Amino acid sequence: MGFAMAIDGPAGAGKSTIARLAGSKLGLIYIDTGAMFRAVAYYFHNNNIDVTSKEAVKSACDNINIDVTYSDGVQQIILNDENITAFLRKEEVGKMASKVAVLADVRTKLLNIQRALASSKRIVMDGRDIGTCVLPDADVKIYLTASSRVRAKRRFDELTSKGEKCDIDAIEKDIIDRDYQDMHREIAPLCQAEDAIYLDTSDMTIDEVVEKLVAICREKDHE
Ligand code: DC
Repeated sequence: MGFAMAIDGPAGAGKSTIARLAGSKLGLIYIDTGAMFRAVAYYFHNNNIDVTSKEAVKSACDNINIDVTYSDGVQQIILNDENITAFLRKEEVGKMASKVAVLADVRTKLLNIQRALASSKRIVMDGRDIGTCVLPDADVKIYLTASSRVRAKRRFDELTSKGEKCDIDAIEKDIIDRDYQDMHREIAPLCQAEDAIYLDTSDMTIDEVVEKLVAICREKDHE
């Protein structure tokens, strides 16, 4: 029997880390929908697609083929036969993803892929509109968030640990800009589903959040 946990929330709230860890404890396949928007952004960027041209966007969407596969349990994104997973976490791809995520043709294309991946499996899926739009009947819905400063600090620590030079104020500004874009777009904006559990993780450790989600899912799964 299928089981679905939907995790939505703003950029940098820790959704993917939490979804991966909680998912592995619960035996759920992790589906990262942000990576799909990033893949489209990567294509648009590399092919200089003009996002203001309806025709260009439509024909780009027709030319994009996205396959989602798993290697040792880690999601891989195959764009037109090329595994582009390694390029997707870059800052500029994330920024571009927020821009392509407003486009109706892009959202429709990815919605179909996302629903097909989730059907009749045991999954945890994270994104912005999973509980509100992609999987409105999900068994468990979580709205995961944290203050913009805390989210910027987490991103700053992640980048500096990789040896990248960065500025925390600039990262926070990007986060606030992306929140605004994600929450104010016309189609499927980021918002908490009515039946979602709200979790502010600003003062929680990763382990605490994971344990909480695991407990919520176990209870629901046994109902
Ligand atoms: O979670 P992320 O940073 O990888 O997401 C990249 C962008 O994709 C984000 O700015 C908003 C968009 N997105 C979306 O609109 N809907 C989703 N379900 C997932 C991501």
